[in-house]
Amino acid sequence: MPILNWIGKEKIVNHDKEVPFRLLRKNKKYSLGKSENLIIEGDNLEALKALMPFYYGKIKCIYIDPPYNTGKEKWVYNDKVNAPKIKEWLDRVVGPEGEDLCRHDKWLCMMYPRLKLLKDLLSNDGVIFVSIDDNELTNLKTVMDDIFGVKNIVANIIVQSNPRGKQQMKIAVTHEYLLVYAKDITKVKLKDAELTEKQIKEYNKVDDNGRRYREIGLRKRGAAARRVDVPNLFYPIYINPKTDAVSLTQSKYFTKKSIPLLSNNEEGRWRWSKKKFGNNKDKLIGRIVNGNKWDVFEMDYLLKEDEQKLTKYKSVWVDKELNYEKAKDLLKQIFNGRSPFDYPKTTFLLKRIIQLITNQEDLILDSFAGSGTTGHAVLDFNKEDGGNRKFILVELEKNIAKKITAERIKRVIRGYFYKKNRGEKIRVKGLGGGFEYVELGEPLFNENGMINEKVSYGDMARYIFFTETHTNLESRNIKENYLGRYGDYHYFLLFDGIKNNILNRKFLKEIKKKDGKKIVYADKCLLDEDILEKHQIIFKQIPYEVKIY
Ligand SMILES: C[S@@+](CC[C@H](N)C(=O)[O-])C[C@H]1O[C@@H](n2cnc3c(N)ncnc32)[C@H](O)[C@@H]1O
Repeated sequence: MPILNWIGKEKIVNHDKEVPFRLLRKNKKYSLGKSENLIIEGDNLEALKALMPFYYGKIKCIYIDPPYNTGKEKWVYNDKVNAPKIKEWLDRVVGPEGEDLCRHDKWLCMMYPRLKLLKDLLSNDGVIFVSIDDNELTNLKTVMDDIFGVKNIVANIIVQSNPRGKQQMKIAVTHEYLLVYAKDITKVKLKDAELTEKQIKEYNKVDDNGRRYREIGLRKRGAAARRVDVPNLFYPIYINPKTDAVSLTQSKYFTKKSIPLLSNNEEGRWRWSKKKFGNNKDKLIGRIVNGNKWDVFEMDYLLKEDEQKLTKYKSVWVDKELNYEKAKDLLKQIFNGRSPFDYPKTTFLLKRIIQLITNQEDLILDSFAGSGTTGHAVLDFNKEDGGNRKFILVELEKNIAKKITAERIKRVIRGYFYKKNRGEKIRVKGLGGGFEYVELGEPLFNENGMINEKVSYGDMARYIFFTETHTNLESRNIKENYLGRYGDYHYFLLFDGIKNNILNRKFLKEIKKKDGKKIVYADKCLLDEDILEKHQIIFKQIPYEVKIY
């Protein structure tokens, strides 16, 4: 498989492992109520890392809309990987080599470690959707193939977001892309789409029981449609001209013969085997076509056993609701007639993505949140189907995160007014819910590798349990110094700030109550080797033996 190389790659491929673990700190002033929805202000590299002890392998749907790297720096956000915080980060991580980076090198350096962390957060049956345009499509595709694996490609969807087309181009480009990858394609279950009005109109026939259906030719069309392609799917079918019923055998009722013929009269083939024909012949019907030839059709019903018929989503999305102008218009309504953000996505796009992959309790993450379309779409979708999906949004820029992302979500939760063209005031009802606004706090370890003084027991417990087990520890499961059992081990943590955390005889009494092997994290151990061995205890010294994820 071709592997992409770029300046700075060596420094970046394992950089996700070097990113410090920061604590997440709630900012009450910008939060709304108590909720599991999160808006995180900060660089998503650190934010994603901070989420690991809570959400590793738990996110069902990730949507990201990273800067397209168009070179535009004057939008509300920087679309050239040149935002001061990102520039400072690149200089620090890539070093002097960084001076030679071109725009595309920088973009790849920025994306690679973030995509790796996103993959870790995705659940085994989860899917990631990435919006992109021609500027970075090929780079993104190669990097996604590398990180997620070619076998996990779900689709490369064309999204017509600008039906008028970009007039400055030689050919007016109307579309962008949505790259879709699974964490593990064998575990993914995508939902089907409801039929459009146009598709429903195709069901223009009604059977004796009043059920609507359409006729689809039984003859195979398109590729591999000739008799020589699949010889055993060529056989004669006999039709009763009075009832239109079909049979594999000729008789005094079934007198009219039909064989599959291509439009050039070459022998074709049917779509169904004789066995399938035998089991489903009541769904077939014979009919004269072109005045004299008998042909056979499948009756394809609109409702299957009273359930609405669904259809697979196609890879080209041209719905008029995807027009980016609609997204701007919606932001104008929410923000008193002025759109505060350049090129937001439509809630229609996000709701389709949510519909495709999530169930009512799932988690959805967007780590390039911008105006917060993903959060808005989650709330909207929940309102429609009574679901309880949760969102996590991450936005780098303080001003965007506070004044646009969080502000939009607040307004749509509470409801808002907007003025129609003639000044008429329209009230949009609130969607309800809430969110916690979170900022990145101190790193867990300081520059000398020591535990930060501000780290709480819960922070430490979650971090240690995660690095040991790659699973997340629920706060309610922490009992005194006992974190729980995972696999063959019981986990204990002695941590009361950064002093006097000693594994001694007194504590031994407590942990002896658990049968089997135990791992105990503490500052010091006063027990002899043979006592540790006797009680199957492995002592791990804080901070030196705390693993780095
Ligand atoms: C293309 S916009 C996303 C627009 C969004 N989909 C919407 O509908 O509003 C990209 C956003 O990602 C933010 N961003 C860029 N780099 C980031 C980073 N490292 N961490 C978090 N956010 C970042 C930018 O500030 C910008 O708001």
